[in-house]
Amino acid sequence: MVAVTARACANIALVKYWGKRDALLNLPAAGSLSLTLAALITETTVELDESLPTDEISLDGELAPASSAAARRVVAVLDLVRARAGAHTRARVRSRNEFPTATGLASSASGFAALALAASRAAGLALSARELSILARRGSGSAARSVHGGFVRMRAGAASEDAYAEPIESPLLPQVRMVIAIVGGGAPKQHGSRDAMDHTAATSPLYRAWLDLVPRDLAAAEHALAAGDLAALGAVAEANALAMHASALAARPAVIYWQPATLAVHARVRGLRECGLSAWATMDAGPHVKVLTTATDAPTIAMQLRDLDGVTAVAISAPGPAAAVVAPEAPAAERP
Ligand code: PMV
Repeated sequence: MVAVTARACANIALVKYWGKRDALLNLPAAGSLSLTLAALITETTVELDESLPTDEISLDGELAPASSAAARRVVAVLDLVRARAGAHTRARVRSRNEFPTATGLASSASGFAALALAASRAAGLALSARELSILARRGSGSAARSVHGGFVRMRAGAASEDAYAEPIESPLLPQVRMVIAIVGGGAPKQHGSRDAMDHTAATSPLYRAWLDLVPRDLAAAEHALAAGDLAALGAVAEANALAMHASALAARPAVIYWQPATLAVHARVRGLRECGLSAWATMDAGPHVKVLTTATDAPTIAMQLRDLDGVTAVAISAPGPAAAVVAPEAPAAERP
């Protein structure tokens, strides 16, 4: 039996991925750009066991029924690994999120990045970072970015082999933080990102405008990262998230993630900015708000958001590292 454990951090997009051009290959319709977060970690162990008749998947301590959507997505990634390794052995997968309590945050990015790394190593494959990113993408589009630490760019690519993520260097990295404001107690989300982005692409009159916007926002964000201009990066991130949600709001029927407290957090962030703090809001397929800020301003922002009605938890995160194997330990000579 071979067991490998890997850890990966979730990431929050500053220029969002919202829409696919190929559902089977999970190819994004456009690029995206994100920050990997140290506070949101998934640890996944993949154990290959000749005696297993089928894959056995446990998520946060609960066995996922083979027919569940979550189990099927995991098995699909395991099948890709087996096909590549020319193997047939079934796997026992145990995945656990170490997220701040009751956040209700999506864990598919960290989950599929950790799975891709643990499963490929368990099967004896030594994939490059690019190959790993492509494999993680098949599980979840945002997982392609969680293979890397810090700021990350996802290429839309022309084909499956060039739709992968890569790290971007920036002088901003040491100083940035994300304040995560959980809205609504972490209740399960109403519209999963997968279905909601497909529905937006199929029915929203604003989807075309969204796709036209993304390359411009990516260029502006990359320019801001290179120049070390946090205010410019924050302005793009906030406007891009609002544009993504505008396209979703205009879908028919509408995809609405906003709750009253979501709007209250946005208003407070704007107010804090007017008082001279570094604070820009972004949100994903749920009511929570993540605030891009600095190490200096993060504690004040966290305190200001904790007070708001409907905000049930607040956490501060520093940038996180790339996905890594934690067991079996690498021989001393291979450690960074
Ligand atoms: O990776 P998915 O399929 O869960 O989609 C992620 C979608 C957003 O979180 C809303 C945006 C993003 O780029 O992470």
